[in-house]
Amino acid sequence: MTVSDKFEDCKILITGGAGFVGSEVVRQFSQLKNASLAVLDNFASGRRDFLSAVPECEIEEIDLLDRENVFRCVDRFRPDFVVHLAAIHFIPYCNRFPAECIRVNIEGTQNLLDALLNSSVRRVVAASSAAVYPIHDGACGESSVSPEPTDVYGLSKLCNEMQLQQFHAKSGVDSAAARFFNVYGPRETNPHVIPELLNQLLEGASELKLGNLEPKRDYIHVEDVARACIALAADASGFGAYNVGTGTEFSVAEIVSHFKAISARPFEVVQDKNKVRKSDRMHLRADTSKIQEAVGFTAKVGFADGLADLWDWGQANPVLRDFSGSQSVRMERPLAGSDR
Ligand SMILES: NC(=O)c1ccc[n+]([C@@H]2O[C@H](COP(=O)([O-])OP(=O)(O)OC[C@H]3O[C@@H](n4cnc5c(N)ncnc54)[C@H](O)[C@@H]3O)[C@@H](O)[C@H]2O)c1
Repeated sequence: MTVSDKFEDCKILITGGAGFVGSEVVRQFSQLKNASLAVLDNFASGRRDFLSAVPECEIEEIDLLDRENVFRCVDRFRPDFVVHLAAIHFIPYCNRFPAECIRVNIEGTQNLLDALLNSSVRRVVAASSAAVYPIHDGACGESSVSPEPTDVYGLSKLCNEMQLQQFHAKSGVDSAAARFFNVYGPRETNPHVIPELLNQLLEGASELKLGNLEPKRDYIHVEDVARACIALAADASGFGAYNVGTGTEFSVAEIVSHFKAISARPFEVVQDKNKVRKSDRMHLRADTSKIQEAVGFTAKVGFADGLADLWDWGQANPVLRDFSGSQSVRMERPLAGSDR
């Protein structure tokens, strides 16, 4: 049975489906035969134009904190499969507004899982993050390195894993937490290093403002991340947390060199003190063996190819690569009472 067969005539709900990863998950699901798709999103950082290529996808503009409407959406659509991606995700934003991060990521996830509890859902895949891991120099394995988040975002994601495990224990529904490493590719919504660099270069900057150049991360292309979500939705059984990475890591300096070669433009790099994180970890890399054994997933897109494709996409899509409307970019809003 192919992956496509497994979703034939099924209903798939993607929360956060208007975001960076979500819109690629929607795009890939839409290429499978006869699956009905719905997106639940409040458009805090997601965008309707990310979904314009998939007009058959239903869009439910709902906030995960609006419990009543989350229940109504699940009741009406009756999903067979759920990929839960909606969250506040940009770490500097979460650090600045920790109560909002906790509320959206934890209470929002609980609302969704409660709505799914007595439904006909068959499998749930929820986005976790490599941010659940402590600072560790070698590859992070799910069983070899115990979670120990270093920030409020990682804490919220670890809590999501435990919420999902409890949901599985109560419902018996197969549930997988996907620990994404650093995702890159088209339609990014948050000012991470790769889209920042891409945008600065495409705007004609001759001087790039960056934070630390040494930290290495396991960058995985968004097409691979979406494939991993679909593989887990198709085949994961019981409850498990799975790394979604490539197993290799690159420094910011190496990304800069790649962009130098791809863009064929001369530029200087200057360190921007505002972008330097105080306690940046130097390494973050996945051990990818568990997801490979469980559902046969390995990343396919090489880093140099992924960056070259991103450059071409960025040149062709100036509107879509502009993430200035994203909630995470609006860091300077006044602190609300609960965030003080
Ligand atoms: N991008 C990465 O590198 C990365 C790494 C690790 C984990 N993740 C996780 O993957 C998931 C998707 O991340 P992304 O990069 O696509 O981020 P994103 O910000 O592009 O997507 C999140 C989506 O959730 C929606 N959303 C936010 N708050 C909501 C709410 N209260 N109700 C309904 N919808 C809401 C946003 O509008 C957006 O469409 C997130 O859970 C994130 O924590 C991402």
